[in-house]
Amino acid sequence: MIYRKDLENINSYKPGKPIEEVKRSLGLKEVYKLASNEIPFIPLHINKAIQRELKNINRYPEADCFYLRRLLSDKLEVDGEQIVFGNGSDELITLSLTALINKGDEVIVSYPTFLIYEIQAKIHGAKIVRVPFCEFRYSLNEIGRKISNKTKIIFIANPDNPTGTYVTQKEVETFVEKVPEDVLIFFDEAYFEFAPADYPNTLKLLKKKKNIFISRTFSKAYGLAGMRVGYGVGTKEFAHIMNKIREPFNVNRLAQVGAIAALGNDIFLKKVLNYVQKEKCYLYKELGGLGMKFVKSATNFIMVDFQKDTANLNNYLLEKGIIIRELKSWEMDNFFRLTIGKHKENKYFINCLKEYIEL
Ligand SMILES: Cc1ncc(COP(=O)(O)O)c(C=O)c1O
Repeated sequence: MIYRKDLENINSYKPGKPIEEVKRSLGLKEVYKLASNEIPFIPLHINKAIQRELKNINRYPEADCFYLRRLLSDKLEVDGEQIVFGNGSDELITLSLTALINKGDEVIVSYPTFLIYEIQAKIHGAKIVRVPFCEFRYSLNEIGRKISNKTKIIFIANPDNPTGTYVTQKEVETFVEKVPEDVLIFFDEAYFEFAPADYPNTLKLLKKKKNIFISRTFSKAYGLAGMRVGYGVGTKEFAHIMNKIREPFNVNRLAQVGAIAALGNDIFLKKVLNYVQKEKCYLYKELGGLGMKFVKSATNFIMVDFQKDTANLNNYLLEKGIIIRELKSWEMDNFFRLTIGKHKENKYFINCLKEYIEL
């Protein structure tokens, strides 16, 4: 078989190690995963809804996510036809590229940001234009300067992964005015629920600007990472194209009822957000006490500057049953990303980190 030559240079995405794998390989009974920005709680109301739906798993799901679409369109006050659902919000990134990229078109990605943009853009034959961060934040001015007549998509993770920083309403308002109408601005808002008050209202902006697409997910604040469901909102025209090219049953039956149950329980969401805020302050204090440098985060994770290679620390923590995320895939060997876990897990992590430093 003759494969595409250009695929040889693509580094595939390396996710955080699964708990099962670490238990298996190190013979551990208990493992804490603080690596993939999931929340540490099991949403029981969602479990119940999913269990009720199990009796129907011999049937295909509704291809257009009818009930979920109706609920979300009411909640977000957008036309249901503006919404696209994905098998996780990851799929929306891929779909937008499939819809817009011809070989050789340019895609602007910042650095360090969510790696899927660059990986998928390369798979789609795009030329990557990388714009470095300025003090761990997106530099929208610099992005503006890099737009050319070949630019098709600009990806903005807001808040960003792995830094946890965000761009404000004001910055975004100025930026969108500078972007030509034929360039799509893809706002990836996977962590928007955690963000503070001056976070941009991109849904409102979409009423004025047609070249905006906003993706969100049920994987983070809602606790549904294992179910794989995300959504995007754009113009009806763009949503129609994306719906045309997606797989018909991309969001499975259990994911659909899970997402519906998630939207129906604001109390759980509020608890999660309050918890994350409180625990983040605990971790800031403890990390600071250990002399660690870190970036203040608008999300449920913290990027730590360990100031030396994290490989030994990572192995030490794995042996102790803790999975963190090294940032080697971002070529940031001295940094790691820590997801906020249960208090017991965070405390154990801090103790192990202290032990390691004192070795
Ligand atoms: C910035 C960002 N966007 C998108 C995703 C993908 O999320 P999902 O496909 O689970 O919706 C992630 C996951 O870590 C992320 O960090």
